[in-house]
Amino acid sequence: MKKNNQYDVIIIGAGAAGIMSAIRAGERGLSVLLIDHTDKIGQKILISGGGRCNFTNLGITPTAYLSPNPHFCKSALSRYTQWQFIELLNKHGLTYHEKTLGQLFCDQKSKAIIDMLMTEIYQNQIDIATGKTIEEVHYCQNQYKITTQNQHFNAPQLVIACGGPSFPKVGGSDFALRIAKKFGIQNTPFSPALVPLTLPEFFLKTTKPLAGLSHFVRITCNGISFAENILFTHRGISGPTVLQISSYWKKGDTLTIDLSPNIAQHRSLKEAKKAFPKQLLSKYLSNHLPNKLAITLMNCFFEDRPLQNLSDKAINNLSKNIHHWQITPSGSERMKKAEVSIGGIHPNALSSKTFECLKQNGLYFIGEAVNVTGWLGGYNFQWAWSSGWCCGDSLKYHPLRQQ
Ligand code: FDA
Repeated sequence: MKKNNQYDVIIIGAGAAGIMSAIRAGERGLSVLLIDHTDKIGQKILISGGGRCNFTNLGITPTAYLSPNPHFCKSALSRYTQWQFIELLNKHGLTYHEKTLGQLFCDQKSKAIIDMLMTEIYQNQIDIATGKTIEEVHYCQNQYKITTQNQHFNAPQLVIACGGPSFPKVGGSDFALRIAKKFGIQNTPFSPALVPLTLPEFFLKTTKPLAGLSHFVRITCNGISFAENILFTHRGISGPTVLQISSYWKKGDTLTIDLSPNIAQHRSLKEAKKAFPKQLLSKYLSNHLPNKLAITLMNCFFEDRPLQNLSDKAINNLSKNIHHWQITPSGSERMKKAEVSIGGIHPNALSSKTFECLKQNGLYFIGEAVNVTGWLGGYNFQWAWSSGWCCGDSLKYHPLRQQ
């Protein structure tokens, strides 16, 4: 800890973005204080990817991010890429594998990523203050004065890397919005994303027997589609495809679920009718779908009969129900179970190169606190690493710094 508590930069929030920004600023010789209100740094990194941390994606592209300014993320993603983060893992002797769809996971688990970041933090002489509740942020004479329980810290630059309020049990909060309001920075309220969806009671009666079942589907909402697994739960639907589409879903929107995205059921049913006229429809369905799902569909929509008794109209209807199952969720599992939050600081209020506020000298916002939200699959950590690194790369020395 610096004797006079004066730093070049104070970073509030020791998650992926804050840590990366601290490391880059430290590498460049700046004096850095990294503050967090929880007792441990990088708690979301630790629990991410089922404990293995899906730390980036091979196919990082700006189109995988939702934002009111879709161009904003381009600069940072191209200046600190997935390859640079992979290089950091290589430097520390960590290995990784691609699970699916370009998603990279650490072989040595999430804890190894935290240890790697801690090593960088120590090597670059970054001060850490955990378990600190920020009581006040005051700006006076080009200095940010941060007051915690019984301490004061000063710096001409303040980086807000507090993420969003998703998963509050590991430190998520809306602190970034509170700071934005204090300094008059344009912002949007946070809402949950990458979150399981709940179903209305009457619909649950149908889907409850499916709880635990996972099946490859395509889900479409508001013109956006994802094809991955759906997981039926006791309260609704989850799994990667539901988490992905949840970021595009708003209350009242209907999801269209294609239960058989790889087989055109209209043609397949016609062919089966010709080849196996005596086969029962229930048998046909259980050959194409998980048994429990076939039974549920039979109970909901279809009367069992030999395929030879299916009229063209019945085949049309059947294929429509399989390819266009309509579900209107009642809500989501909210922030408690959301992997990220949409909303935060409006990108147009920030420089896309430095992440400094255009209207407030020395104040920066990075990571999930900014209204840029990635798809599931390592995109959100890459945004945190990229925005954090670019911010850390642009922070300035304090001309009056006292050692
Ligand atoms: P992050 O939330 O990581 O860090 C913010 C920090 O600020 C926290 O340490 C918090 O304690 C601190 N803070 C908040 N308020 C404060 C205050 N008032 N005072 C002081 N400190 C404060 N992404 C991905 O790409 N791959 C994956 O595998 C996963 N998996 C995953 C699983 C789960 C369960 C969750 C909840 C999330 C993921 N994510 C993910 C998303 C990913 O974790 C997220 O996008 C990044 O952690 C965002 O990084 P930030 O540093 O911006 O915020």
